Amino acid sequence: MVQAKTWILTKHFDGFPKDSDFELKVEELPAPKDGEVLLEAVFLSVDPYMRPFSRVRMNEGDVMIGSQVAKVIQSNNPAFPVGSHVVGRCGWRSHTVCDGMGLVPIMPEWPKDVSLSLALGAIGMPGLTALYGIEEVLGLQKGETLLVNAAAGAVGSVVGQIAKIKGCKVVGSAGTDAKVAFLKELGFDEAFNYKTVGSMEEALKKASPGGYDCFFENVGGLSSSVALQQMKNFGRIAVCGAISTYNDSTPQTGPFPHLTMIFKQLKMEGFMQSRWEHKNPESLKRLMGWLKEGKLQCREHITKGFEKMPAAFMGILRGENVGKAIVVV
Ligand SMILES: NC(=O)c1ccc[n+]([C@@H]2O[C@H](COP(=O)([O-])OP(=O)(O)OC[C@H]3O[C@@H](n4cnc5c(N)ncnc54)[C@H](OP(=O)(O)O)[C@@H]3O)[C@@H](O)[C@H]2O)c1
Repeated sequence: MVQAKTWILTKHFDGFPKDSDFELKVEELPAPKDGEVLLEAVFLSVDPYMRPFSRVRMNEGDVMIGSQVAKVIQSNNPAFPVGSHVVGRCGWRSHTVCDGMGLVPIMPEWPKDVSLSLALGAIGMPGLTALYGIEEVLGLQKGETLLVNAAAGAVGSVVGQIAKIKGCKVVGSAGTDAKVAFLKELGFDEAFNYKTVGSMEEALKKASPGGYDCFFENVGGLSSSVALQQMKNFGRIAVCGAISTYNDSTPQTGPFPHLTMIFKQLKMEGFMQSRWEHKNPESLKRLMGWLKEGKLQCREHITKGFEKMPAAFMGILRGENVGKAIVVV
């Protein structure tokens, strides 16, 4: 009999999440039946989407949603041999018994010297988000100028690097000077700390006096309205996230972007990376190719210990992470 540790959402978040919204519970797992496997979590992901999705996809008392890299430790399913690793949407659980539905085996050509944790980051969902936002939504072209916010995070750091690979000028904003230094290390042409610049408008103008062709939007709220005004005519905006609004108890109002969008004839499209799931195997190989060629650097913000899951999650909502936030069991 295996005991699984789980993190339960005891109470729907109201404003910024609190320790008391989570509870660590232990449950006894049954032995895997025919076709089932027993998984042991190795790396767990904490992601901003968990905050808005908890409200629409979860009930109080549910195990927190989320993905993990897990090792198969018992198997009655030949597709997942003992000792192999998978990415699964198992939630915040140390151990899981499941029938294999939705589990994605780590790609066979995964290099031995690359941490499997990257399957939750640059060579996983956040990397795919960056790639699809750039290629499928923005259609970013060589020579264009791209703006990305939350630029030092899991998605933003990959966005900037792919845009450089494509021969573009890249401007990024982030919330600390250390993050700005990291963006420069990654090859961003311009980067600024949006918390200390004073005027976002001036910072955006200074970074690209001619304006922006493309905007990869991760943050939302007031700062986005300022960014929209710096777009070139016919600029394109990929709305990937709105993290600055996720903890709002009452929705933010205005300024409204319509006139700016009309006068500049902007095109804005929201997206979820899952739209292009059918392309994932090929896309993950491309991301891995860039990593192996040294064109894609992957920073991780590691928290040790399953018991720290809530702290790691709340940490990303406070901007504590540089790169992808990962919990190592
Ligand atoms: N559409 C999709 O399919 C999809 C998929 C994945 C992620 N996303 C979205 O993409 C965005 C980035 O996700 P990620 O996984 O890469 O997270 P992340 O950037 O690694 O971490 C979140 C970062 O957001 C910034 N932030 C937090 N609160 C903020 C606030 N109130 N105002 C401004 N910035 C704030 C912080 O950086 P600073 O220090 O720079 O503020 C923090 O480090 C999120 O909005 C997420 O929901 C969308």
